[in-house]
Amino acid sequence: MTQKRYVTTPIYYVNDKPHVGHAYTSVAADVLARWWRLQGHEVFFLTGTDEHGQKVEKAARDAGMEPQAFTDQVSQHFRDLTATLGLSNDDFIRTTEARHKAACSALWEELARRAEIYLGHDEGWYAVRDEAFYGPDELTERDGVKYAPSGAPVEWVREPSYFFRLSKWLPELLRRFDLPEGHAERIDVQPEARRNEVRAFVQQGLKDFADRPEKLDLSISRTSFTWGVKVPGDPAHVMYVWLDALTNYITAAGYPDANAERWKFWPASAHFVGKDIVRFHTIYWPAFLMAAGISPAKRVFAHGWWTIEGQKMSKSLGNAIDPVALVADYGLDPLRYFLLREVPFGADGDFSRKALANRLNGELADALGNLANRTLSLIQRNCEGKLPAPAAAIGDDVALLDALAAMPGLVGKHVEDQAFHLALEEVFRVVRAANGYITAQAPWALKKTDVTRMEAVLRHLHSVLRGAATALQPFMPGTMAALLDQLAVPEDSRDLAALATPLPTGTALPPPSPLFRKIEIEAA
Ligand code: MSP
Repeated sequence: MTQKRYVTTPIYYVNDKPHVGHAYTSVAADVLARWWRLQGHEVFFLTGTDEHGQKVEKAARDAGMEPQAFTDQVSQHFRDLTATLGLSNDDFIRTTEARHKAACSALWEELARRAEIYLGHDEGWYAVRDEAFYGPDELTERDGVKYAPSGAPVEWVREPSYFFRLSKWLPELLRRFDLPEGHAERIDVQPEARRNEVRAFVQQGLKDFADRPEKLDLSISRTSFTWGVKVPGDPAHVMYVWLDALTNYITAAGYPDANAERWKFWPASAHFVGKDIVRFHTIYWPAFLMAAGISPAKRVFAHGWWTIEGQKMSKSLGNAIDPVALVADYGLDPLRYFLLREVPFGADGDFSRKALANRLNGELADALGNLANRTLSLIQRNCEGKLPAPAAAIGDDVALLDALAAMPGLVGKHVEDQAFHLALEEVFRVVRAANGYITAQAPWALKKTDVTRMEAVLRHLHSVLRGAATALQPFMPGTMAALLDQLAVPEDSRDLAALATPLPTGTALPPPSPLFRKIEIEAA
């Protein structure tokens, strides 16, 4: 049954150029969106840029530019990156857009109307880099400077501030984290370890502040700078950048217009975020929404972080990897494949050029590329380039075709769980089996001894390639489109449902050409 599905990436800060960590979340979200479309669902996929706050204001100043001009420029890098990465996003949101400021104001007014906001004053240790407050016990001191656990320096700030009654919503959050799978009100924090972490964090807060819960309320406005969305009715304040940023997910869905065409997509099916921003997405965001009478997103999935050749990616080390350069060196689809195959989504991983080259050479070029090339060359040469007739499965055919039939279901299950590496493994299990099969059956030798059997073997192999190419489209859209062209699968027959309808016997196949270019490991 067709469903409405909505997936988001975080919106990226425009204080810096995009790096491979940004590309990662975006590609993963793209794979999910494409998989859903392949299943026939109606999909909305959103990405964009986070452009307000002190950190961006400072970056603009450092660049000697006005914040608006600066954010226009850096945001464009991220927009260009969506094309470089082949993203199929349906919208690209910028928090400096009028539609977004309107949504933020509407959400604020709704919270104020419901008495979820009050005026007070705020003081504490604030890290501009993280746009977050920290408790004194979380800090470490070096050379007279205090640092947050993230490594960001903190400073003492005191200013009037509006507060959100976060404390009131924490017990409700705990209830929702623990609702059973499938329950309409469940907030599904994944992976499990992250859910436990967030739950423990909330429980600890409730325990520590049992006698003064207002301490758990959240400061949601600032007066010390101006680059933000003005608080309705009190323009000396700008909204806390995370309240502003998180709201993007409903802005793009049309909020506050309940009749907006896109509002049908809310609540979002999944927010993809890095592990560093889990608390914002699993505590603040659902609390804001519930307080405004809006359903929170159904799932938040936190992925891990990439190190680069064994080292933390950092500005000071200057080792951040530009995804544009990677695409130029290895091709887009090998990069997309690598990012999702190398590391379980949710775990940390190491990015190395050698590992990428190994996957490209061994799995893409050798296993999949060769299977396609051998099969399609034989059909060209031995069958006059015409697709042989379907044949009944006998002997070794049975296991191969059974595995093929089961594969899309298994891939789908893993993609729904965001176990992308396992989804890919399911496809490659069948590809490897087919490579064993072609060697064992030796269809090239059958040409002289048993043409009927040769044709049957080649037809089975064509089916394997069609199944693999279809299921791999979300991961490697460009290359799999080329493979499906070579397999002569019409463009309107490339979704999962179409696999049930065999191509007509005698379909003319174009001459094959290599799908992947190998990389010298030394040069990698
Ligand atoms: N603007 C906020 C998000 C607001 S969402 C309402 C933000 N932006 S960010 O640009 O700093 O980070 C965006 C994403 O990139 C985060 O999910 C973060 O986890 C991810 N990554 C940053 N460095 C990364 C790696 N080294 N590896 C993997 N992901 C990384 O946070």
